[in-house]
Amino acid sequence: MKVVIQDDADAVAAYGAEIFREQLQKKPASVFGLATGSTPLRLYQQLIQSNQQGDISFARVRSFNLDEYMDLPPDHPQSYRHFMDREFFDHIDIDRDNTQVPPGNADNPMIACRNYERAIQDAGGIDIQLLGIGRNGHIGFNEPTSCLASRTRVKTLTRETIEDNARFFSDGETQPQLSITMGIGTIMEARLIVLLATGEGKANAVKAMVEGPMSAWCPASALQMHPATVVIVDEAAASGLTDPGFFKHIEQHNQALLARIKA
Ligand code: PGA
Repeated sequence: MKVVIQDDADAVAAYGAEIFREQLQKKPASVFGLATGSTPLRLYQQLIQSNQQGDISFARVRSFNLDEYMDLPPDHPQSYRHFMDREFFDHIDIDRDNTQVPPGNADNPMIACRNYERAIQDAGGIDIQLLGIGRNGHIGFNEPTSCLASRTRVKTLTRETIEDNARFFSDGETQPQLSITMGIGTIMEARLIVLLATGEGKANAVKAMVEGPMSAWCPASALQMHPATVVIVDEAAASGLTDPGFFKHIEQHNQALLARIKA
């Protein structure tokens, strides 16, 4: 697990966006795993800007989102399909038919989950999976106690996650208690994983993910077993780490090595 500590949320987004730009330059028909939440917004804004300036194109990209609330129609303002359209897809040159979000309102969610897994495989697997992390260490909606080998399935949300997301629902509006989420095993098959975390509220989860025992109690800790994960955090989200200085030291060496290879 590579841990990169940046000064602030803008620098976290810039570092992450550059990974996506480089991937698109290498492979214009990349397959991206995408995430919702407030954390990836700045990264999406940077990619939108690069796309609108003509530096990168999403015309051949296919995307699969991590998760979706159950029983919300795709046009519901709080559905993750709506979030992705509003915050990202509406502003880039991606073909909407090439973007997939788990069908939260499928008649048979079990079949929908199996089909989602198959669609990812048929696309050739995910090149880069973007992730945030919940305060409780969840990735996607894989809540604590999730099986570390799980596949796309229906998952019950924890009270903590429901509280965290309540801010997006109006008073009296029914908030979903269930979701469809890629499993941890599904996420672990991505060739590269980019996890972003910002703010002090994520410090404990980041510490548990990076340093803690690998445990279903912190689903993100499974990423310790992934061969190519980049965790990009700001100073606040890194503040729980035992030795943040060590990760900065490693990054300096990595950058120097990169400059030597490019020279
Ligand atoms: P957030 O959510 O980016 O809104 O903090 C992250 C997550 O729950 O995965």
